[in-house]
Amino acid sequence: MKILVINGPNLNFLGKRNIDIYGNKTLEEINSQLKKRAEEMEIEVEFFQSNYEGEIIDRLQKTDEFDGVIINPGALAHYSYSLRDAIEPLPVPVIEVHLSNIFAREDFRCCSVTAPVCQGFLSGLGWQVYLFALDIMFKLISSKKK
Ligand code: DQA
Repeated sequence: MKILVINGPNLNFLGKRNIDIYGNKTLEEINSQLKKRAEEMEIEVEFFQSNYEGEIIDRLQKTDEFDGVIINPGALAHYSYSLRDAIEPLPVPVIEVHLSNIFAREDFRCCSVTAPVCQGFLSGLGWQVYLFALDIMFKLISSKKK
């Protein structure tokens, strides 16, 4: 089983940026926790972060070898129809995650245009949303493979 974990704009600044909202773990720390958990579950994970919408779309268009995608689109979730269109045709499950509770913040964050084309959505549980998404992804894919 192979999972791609994508992080969008500004998530490379985790640990330095709005710590009260996003917590003090860096993206590298989160990714290493995820890698550890994935190894225990015998899942292969690959990580990709970009501050550029087009690069994320290019990455999503080359996901043939993956069984699932976990994505934190950052602010792109709130307005990127191009990202939505790149997610929609993917033949594998996609889970959208946000560290913060996007419904409890500014009005412009209250909508995700990408979540409706994802299999599921997790928001507001801190860095552990990535771990929860991995657990759920494992269950989704294993049940399909049976
Ligand atoms: C975020 C929420 C977005 O609104 C914000 O633009 C981010 C981080 C989150 O993980 O809570 O960059 O995706």
